[in-house]
Amino acid sequence: MPHIKNIAVIGAGLMGHGIAQVFAMYGYSVMLMDLKKEILSKAVERIRSNLTLMAERGIGSRNDIGPAMAKIKTTVNLNEAASGAHFVVEAVLEDLGLKQKILKDLDSISSPETILATNTSVISITEIAEKSKGRERILGTHFWNPPYLIPLVEVVRGQDTSDAAMDATFQLLNHVGKHPVRVNKDVPGFVGNRLQHALWREAISIVEHGIADPATVDECVKFGFGLRLPILGPLENADMVGTDLTLAIHDYLLKYLESSPEASPLLKKKVEKGDLGFKSGQGFQEWTPEKAQRSRARLQEYLLKVTQI
Ligand code: NAI
Repeated sequence: MPHIKNIAVIGAGLMGHGIAQVFAMYGYSVMLMDLKKEILSKAVERIRSNLTLMAERGIGSRNDIGPAMAKIKTTVNLNEAASGAHFVVEAVLEDLGLKQKILKDLDSISSPETILATNTSVISITEIAEKSKGRERILGTHFWNPPYLIPLVEVVRGQDTSDAAMDATFQLLNHVGKHPVRVNKDVPGFVGNRLQHALWREAISIVEHGIADPATVDECVKFGFGLRLPILGPLENADMVGTDLTLAIHDYLLKYLESSPEASPLLKKKVEKGDLGFKSGQGFQEWTPEKAQRSRARLQEYLLKVTQI
């Protein structure tokens, strides 16, 4: 694998601009590519504003903003973006056909040594790589939003991904202050989203069956076991209470938990009615624009506080 200096990020939306920021903050040359110049100027402004906010909260300094911004170049041309890159992250829309096409185009544009990473949230890496020739250098790097604050990146091995590509990606992500983890099997949802949506399925089911209202369900997490989660994962927790107690609880409890392979009828009804959450003002709870904004701000302030770079 080549010494990685040049990064290309394809797609400059919510995730792409943040991923470009991560690499630029650590001195990598970044080419950020999207379909329109206006999208790219907006992305560059977002990066500057993120860096400014972070500096105000003591993450990096104002003096680092100029040098980081100087590392980012933009283009609407895939060839220009990727031909000199040692590492490419694809962060376009979650659409299998589009991702396959971009990976296939990158196959001939980039050097055979270049690692090609996709930021898909749920689509199989093996399927995304299907139309490409150099499949051993294609893998998943699942960043979490916002990528410049959340440390985790799931590095997902496709069916044909080489050890060398996995190792080089791991090293690169460690170098830019991320916390990469290895996902050894290319399964839908990888690890993080499987865990997250197992919890959401149960939460929705509890509301659906009238066991507790939505605010109460969230309170049970926020004021209860959620306080432990940042420092105690479920498996360390299982060991802490004992695998014997965990078994006894599961023997009794699991049969009562939600196990439907379908999305909940309550969730489907809400979507049909247009109760889409923050964006419509009503979801599981009512959201005035002010209340929704307070929730977003609370999350951002919290992440800025707990993030150590
Ligand atoms: P987004 O809609 O904010 O950005 C996607 C960008 O791709 C847009 O700016 C669009 O103009 C651009 N694009 C579309 N076709 C293109 C092409 N042919 N060439 C170059 N750019 C093109 O989407 P977002 O949220 O940033 O998601 C990007 C990827 O990251 C998706 O695969 C998504 O599933 C994944 N992801 C999203 C997370 C989230 O919280 N939004 C979290 C983790 C992963």
